[in-house]
Amino acid sequence: MIYQMSLAADARSIADRILAADAVTVISHIDADGITSEAILSQALQRAGIPAQSIFVRQLEPLTMKHVPENDTLKIFIDLGAGQQNLLEERGMPEDKVVIIDHHVAQDVKTPYPQINAITYGYEKLSAAGVGYFVAREMDECNRDLAKLAVVGNVGDMMARENCALIGPAREIVDDGVQFGNIEVVDHNLNFYGISTRPIHTCLSFCDDPYIPGISNDATAARVFLERIGIAMRNSSGKMRVFEELSEEERQTLINALAEQLIAHGRSTERLLAETYLFTDEELRSPLRNAAEYATMLNACGRWTKPAIGSSVCQGDRGQAYRDAEHMLRHHRTIIREMMEYILDTGVTELSHLQYLHVGDKFPDTVVGIGAGMALSKLNWKKPIMILCYLADEPDLVKASMRTNDTMVRQGVDLQAALAESAAKLGGAGGGHKIAAGAYIPRNSEDDFAEIVNTALSRQSP
Ligand code: C5P
Ligand code: C5P
Repeated sequence: MIYQMSLAADARSIADRILAADAVTVISHIDADGITSEAILSQALQRAGIPAQSIFVRQLEPLTMKHVPENDTLKIFIDLGAGQQNLLEERGMPEDKVVIIDHHVAQDVKTPYPQINAITYGYEKLSAAGVGYFVAREMDECNRDLAKLAVVGNVGDMMARENCALIGPAREIVDDGVQFGNIEVVDHNLNFYGISTRPIHTCLSFCDDPYIPGISNDATAARVFLERIGIAMRNSSGKMRVFEELSEEERQTLINALAEQLIAHGRSTERLLAETYLFTDEELRSPLRNAAEYATMLNACGRWTKPAIGSSVCQGDRGQAYRDAEHMLRHHRTIIREMMEYILDTGVTELSHLQYLHVGDKFPDTVVGIGAGMALSKLNWKKPIMILCYLADEPDLVKASMRTNDTMVRQGVDLQAALAESAAKLGGAGGGHKIAAGAYIPRNSEDDFAEIVNTALSRQSP
């Protein structure tokens, strides 16, 4: 509660700084959290009558700083900036021309840049879009409709994964959306991805958290399972049904049958159910109907370097921008599937505390983090995974993406610390979170780097 009060007070003072600006430049990230963050701020600024321009970068680093204009506008860094304040300082940006809204581990610098950071208040399950929403709400109460976008950002950044629900201030945002009328909370829903768009048997077979023996990774078995429990896969017009279309009774039948299947195999049912967030103002069967699928669509836009299209969708465009986003989503799904197959077929190199794979130039740097996260759930989850790749536009650099899980974080694993320290040893830079982090390192140092990271990890969890 004390934390919450200071978050609210800081949101107020950051909102006042923004409202006092003549013109603003918003600098944000290209993933779902970054895009929703930018869309929340853009709309709040428009409504306040403040001229604003937005810039998306895949990461704030010396080379991307050149995209940040050298003009007199107030620069709002959101979903980035906290860990790269040295770059703002090196640019000579004065503290009264900068605001940082973030949830990444902050860096100590001399200039006291005004900052609101979820981590400062002890909130590890609140993303940048969540913090940005609190600022927007302070700017004007009418911004409560934007709670929906903050929920997409939070879910996109996996804030609901550990607890199978959003918690703390991120859950407060859900309540704002429910009150506003564009969010419906479905309690005890299936904790599966694709409940609004995937045929039910595909949705079941893709589930690996929890892993359901005899169903996960086996679409044919999932189809037989549905037949056995009497759930029709097609609707009266012959179209494949999606989970969201099941009646309450069918939903319960399916949930009970899946629970029995888990118990029969001696597995826990703990992660079978989750609280899910549906958007009642979006079309049925659209990827925008629920927070998780909405986030994937935005990730597709960002990772294929069209974050502004994602932002237009967030701001209500259901015409050309939406069609472009749908196209990118299809492409994104194909590449992610190919990358997963590649990682699993090629296999990883195992060190004592790390598993890693270099994908060279087969996959772009913007998607390897997603591949790392997905591959981890199919490999040995106890060993953090690192995927390395080349950068198309920077031949001297290599990108590293790392992922672990909540259990390992509780045992002391901190990928942010491991990568920041290891990359610095080679003249690179890294950062992020305990559970997900990334770095840029010089080319041809990859195997040395893996050894250095392995040593850093071995000190964290013997
Ligand atoms: O830059 P950013 O923090 O938004 O990076 C988000 C990435 O980190 C996403 O790919 C997300 O899957 C991952 N992440 C995670 N768990 C968290 C926070 C971030 O897996 N608690
Ligand atoms: O790119 P990827 O999804 O692997 O990034 C994971 C997390 O690490 C993100 O939060 C990102 O902002 C952070 N990161 C960073 N510095 C880098 C690369 C990634 O702080 N050089």
